[in-house]
Amino acid sequence: LDNGLALTPPMGWMHWQRFRCITDCEKFPNECISEELFMRTADVMAAEGYADAGYEYIIIDDCWMEKARGEDGRLIADRKRFPSGIKALSDYIHAKGLKFGIYEDYGTYTCAGYPGVIGYMDIDAQTFAEWDVDYVKLDGCYADIEDMDSGYPEFGRLLNATGRPMVYSCSWPVYQEYQGKMPNYEALKEHCNLWRNWGDIDDSWDSVTSITDYFAENQDRIQPHAAPGHWNDPDMLILGNFGLSYDQSKAQMAIWAILAAPLLMSADMATISPDIKGILQNKDVIAVNQDPLGIQGIRVSKEKNIEIWTRPITPVYDGNHSYAVAFVSRRTDGAPYSISSIVSEMGLKNKNGYTVTDLFDKTVQARVVEPSHSFNVRVNPSGVKFFKFTAKP
Ligand code: DGJ
Repeated sequence: LDNGLALTPPMGWMHWQRFRCITDCEKFPNECISEELFMRTADVMAAEGYADAGYEYIIIDDCWMEKARGEDGRLIADRKRFPSGIKALSDYIHAKGLKFGIYEDYGTYTCAGYPGVIGYMDIDAQTFAEWDVDYVKLDGCYADIEDMDSGYPEFGRLLNATGRPMVYSCSWPVYQEYQGKMPNYEALKEHCNLWRNWGDIDDSWDSVTSITDYFAENQDRIQPHAAPGHWNDPDMLILGNFGLSYDQSKAQMAIWAILAAPLLMSADMATISPDIKGILQNKDVIAVNQDPLGIQGIRVSKEKNIEIWTRPITPVYDGNHSYAVAFVSRRTDGAPYSISSIVSEMGLKNKNGYTVTDLFDKTVQARVVEPSHSFNVRVNPSGVKFFKFTAKP
């Protein structure tokens, strides 16, 4: 979508994966979907280096509303959990130097049963603009997939007509694909800044790999559509929660960087360990994700359960790109596994070679390699080695 926004993949925090639809604040005061949660998260993002690292959007997902609209048809935030109202929350987040996102659904109901936009698209777009929303996620439950090709663009036009710049995240392809209809990617690129291609992420390595498998197996038709202003979205970052080991956490971060994926954390920011914080704030890995060329990477091979993922990035000399290269182990046998790959066979052919730096381990010395060389690495079980191959002029 050519609205001047999301020229690199959006970065921020979204509540869904970690906090779901917890609405009982008496039982779960630190986890329920409430203004408190978003304010607390904004505080940590601003104070603990996340904002400086590039994370900017704080996004409310499902379960923020009252079950009924007001008499004027307007959406109302849950009165108990958002006593100050959404505009006040938006102001709070903006005052922290961050941006504010919200969730609705292109259907009669949201997935969790709150009011959807059908019949109220105009007034909802207006309301979001009045609340100074910067990012809208439009889900697709309780909707006819045949109507989405016209309905999602229509809501996008209404957002645009408010005059307030809002990133527009669409869930339309995932609902169509699940029901056997091939999404129209040309239309997606025109009307949305990002879109969910596939199912929801859960808190496990299995879930991460089922999504990365989908992206790899469908890369020929998905990858070409990502570019500045419009991105494929493999869903939230789950590191910092319960399900991933330290190595798996690095692996998710590396693949999301390769995929030019939105980096939307979904964890309890108050409880993130220093190790995981280091991964989330790794400036070199984020720089790969945010590379200005905006080319989505691909999986170039999978042998002996070791995957190689590459992404062309800057700097580019004489038409020769630099590359981010991730070696991801899908193995479970205990010892780190050694593999060696010919550099040109991974698709890296700059005749002057590359200077290679390890993006997670700064103690590893840079190496210089040429396309004909073989590159050796050892990868931990369900772990990653992640490198930048900087093209030599
Ligand atoms: C389905 C979406 O894919 C999720 O990301 C989340 O927004 C839930 N719906 C909320 O109900």
